[in-house]
Amino acid sequence: MPLIEFIRSRLGWVVFSVIFAFGIVWMPLAADAAPDPKLVVGPKDCGECHKAVAESWGKTKHYSGFRKLTQRKESRRIAKRMKIRRIKRASLCMNCHFTSKMKGKRARPIAGVSCESCHSPAKNWVDVHQNFGGAEATSKTEAAGHRKERLAKLKAAGMIRPSNIYALASNCFQCHTVPFEKLVNVGKHTPGSKFELVAWSQGEVRHNYVASGEKSNDEASPERKRVLFLVGKAVELEYNLRGVAKSTKKATYAVQMARRAKSAMETFKKVAELVPTPEVKEILDVAAGVKLKLNNGKALVAAADKISKAAQKLASGYDGSKWAALDALIPKPNQYQGKPAK
Ligand code: HEC
Ligand code: HEC
Ligand code: HEC
Ligand code: HEC
Repeated sequence: MPLIEFIRSRLGWVVFSVIFAFGIVWMPLAADAAPDPKLVVGPKDCGECHKAVAESWGKTKHYSGFRKLTQRKESRRIAKRMKIRRIKRASLCMNCHFTSKMKGKRARPIAGVSCESCHSPAKNWVDVHQNFGGAEATSKTEAAGHRKERLAKLKAAGMIRPSNIYALASNCFQCHTVPFEKLVNVGKHTPGSKFELVAWSQGEVRHNYVASGEKSNDEASPERKRVLFLVGKAVELEYNLRGVAKSTKKATYAVQMARRAKSAMETFKKVAELVPTPEVKEILDVAAGVKLKLNNGKALVAAADKISKAAQKLASGYDGSKWAALDALIPKPNQYQGKPAK
């Protein structure tokens, strides 16, 4: 039965109405990166083993936002314009500002942006990821077969590991582009951040302790920074196109998103001259072939999907060793966002 006839039929109408009603209630949660509250264990558990990481996270705005967001006058103004009474109960704000966990039947915020906002909710992977095959085994002594099996399980459970730069980056951009038209136009929420992946991941957010046995918090290697930089630029383009795809009115949101997408495109052109790999060329071609205009969602999302595939190949297929030409463009430590913890 074609969809429209199905909707016209009585049963179809009931089904459609239910889906539609829930769709509205759940839309903000379904459309973004907020970890599923049913699968969240919470940063306290992670911190029992990852002490240094938890301490450094405790000094970030991701952490302090949990307490500070509701105290800000600006929050109350935004909430009022959005007709939201309690910020910590509003799924819209909870999406990006908090980590929530089930308390009884309800999702309740337990922290700001936390471990599982970036590494994925952990209930199904936390016991697996640190089991190296026996009480004595460590990640260094783990048998090859055990490791293979463990990583397959982690992948299936959706853990976002540091090696998956594409998934890490797309998480950041899903929040930092603020892709909610009404929140920006009506709520007058800031229309996203001046986000750059190297600068924003190597400053206050940085936690890189395992490599040195928790002795220091070193920045990413020059090779890794190149991959972070290039993949960051591709993902920036992808999410700005996704943002433009959602614009329906000529107002702040649409204007800012289109402006950012254009500038991401310009930057990407510069980058492409320095790294002429096939994936980079493909991304340029796809972006050049789509119009940044209102109500052009389908074409823009299709383009973003293609860019996503190419960006994933860039992230998994290259180690950055041949991309030294990018070094001149990569932000320097004095441009990092916030101070890294020691
Ligand atoms: C019982 C101890 C324990 C707990 C609890 C724990 N971890 Fe781990 N985690 C480890 C160990 C051990 C490693 C491996 C370190 C190494 O490579 O030597 C690890 C590694 C990691 C890695 C790097 C994995 C990789 O593939 O390189 C991430 C990310 C991580 N943990 C995140 C978390 C998060 C998020 C939580 C909370 C949901 C958590 N961990 C809870 C012990 C733990
Ligand atoms: C779940 C949504 C979400 C994700 C995912 C996320 N952020 Fe954020 N980030 C925020 C919010 C919200 C703030 C503002 C917090 C506040 O000030 O209350 C913020 C603030 C920051 C800041 C501080 C900015 C300043 O003004 O100094 C940095 C740096 C940052 N994020 C980097 C990152 C990086 C890097 C990633 C990905 C690895 C990332 N964020 C992923 C939501 C998110
Ligand atoms: C799509 C993700 C997203 C949603 C939804 C969201 N925010 Fe934000 N918000 C952010 C990010 C990211 C920042 C950090 C901007 C920066 O400093 O780069 C932020 C910053 C803020 C700030 C600080 C503004 C400033 O200029 O520094 C306030 C206040 C705020 N948000 C309130 C709210 C309220 C209230 C809601 C719910 C009605 C909400 N936000 C929903 C992502 C979001
Ligand atoms: C804003 C996103 C974000 C948050 C929040 C976050 N991580 Fe990470 N995590 C990352 C990124 C990005 C990397 C890769 C670091 C790099 O490439 O410089 C990483 C790397 C790691 C690693 C491996 C690096 C190492 O050697 O230490 C561990 C372990 C880890 N995270 C655990 C945690 C735990 C535990 C928490 C909460 C206390 C947490 N993360 C919070 C984004 C995040």
